[in-house]
Amino acid sequence: MRLTLWTPVLLGALLCLSTVARAEILGDYLGYTACTECHAEIVEGWQTTPHAHAFETLKQQGEEKQGIPGCVKCHVVAYEEDGGFIDMDLTPELKDVQCENCHGPGRAHVETGGDPDLLKKQPDEASCRQCHTEGQDKNFDYETKRRLVHGATP
Ligand code: HEC
Ligand code: HEC
Ligand code: HEC
Ligand code: HEC
Repeated sequence: MRLTLWTPVLLGALLCLSTVARAEILGDYLGYTACTECHAEIVEGWQTTPHAHAFETLKQQGEEKQGIPGCVKCHVVAYEEDGGFIDMDLTPELKDVQCENCHGPGRAHVETGGDPDLLKKQPDEASCRQCHTEGQDKNFDYETKRRLVHGATP
């Protein structure tokens, strides 16, 4: 009887603990150079896409735009998140829209030599919509656009 009463409490506590552990892992953004060793072709493909120079693009509308949070947030990795882009002095490796914008922070995956369950394997439409919002990109079509994210790499 006692056990039954306590079960939900215990489960709740466990859930809490695992959420905390997960939050710590999720703080770890590395930048794309950490992926090259094992995914060289995909890195090369991605480098040919507009995402790979998204930060530079901000300058088109004035150099100062690279310092405006409301612009920077969709043109870099994980702006204002734990371990994400801060500025070009502190986190130059996290400029542009990179692997980890879509696949999530890579540290755990890299440290395990590539455990595929430690990141997002198939980023869904919602992951694009953080930036390709209605307001920003009205005609965004996930099915067509998802094929372009690694460049010519199939
Ligand atoms: C030490 C080698 C290594 C490094 C470094 C590495 N990966 Fe991986 N990655 C792997 C291996 C091995 C797999 C599993 C391949 C499989 O199961 O087909 C994998 C799988 C993946 C998958 C899922 C593929 C699937 O459908 O299962 C993604 C996404 C991925 N890696 C992204 C990245 C990103 C992003 C980085 C850089 C932050 C990175 N990887 C760095 C070795 C690595
Ligand atoms: C962190 C923000 C962000 C995320 C997340 C994001 N994008 Fe983008 N995307 C951009 C920015 C910014 C540009 C413009 C880059 C430039 O031209 O400098 C862009 C451009 C593109 C382009 C080239 C222009 C076009 O519209 O054809 C494609 C294709 C694209 N994104 C597809 C995707 C897909 C598919 C996803 C999700 C799987 C995604 N993006 C996720 C910010 C993002
Ligand atoms: C909500 C996310 C988001 C914000 C905020 C944002 N951008 Fe973008 N930006 C995108 C996406 C997505 C694209 C690619 C799709 C497109 O062309 O609309 C893009 C494309 C661009 C381009 C490529 C040229 C073009 O218009 O196609 C420029 C330049 C640009 N953004 C500048 C800016 C500036 C300057 C700001 C701040 C005033 C800003 N962006 C804020 C997401 C964003
Ligand atoms: C704009 C979002 C986006 C970016 C940036 C991106 N990916 Fe992906 N990635 C995806 C999507 C979406 C899929 C699933 C493709 C599908 O739907 O078949 C995928 C699939 C993968 C896979 C598994 C399938 C395959 O092609 O082998 C790997 C590995 C991978 N990505 C690694 C990377 C690496 C490494 C980078 C950075 C150089 C990167 N991705 C950049 C969205 C992205």
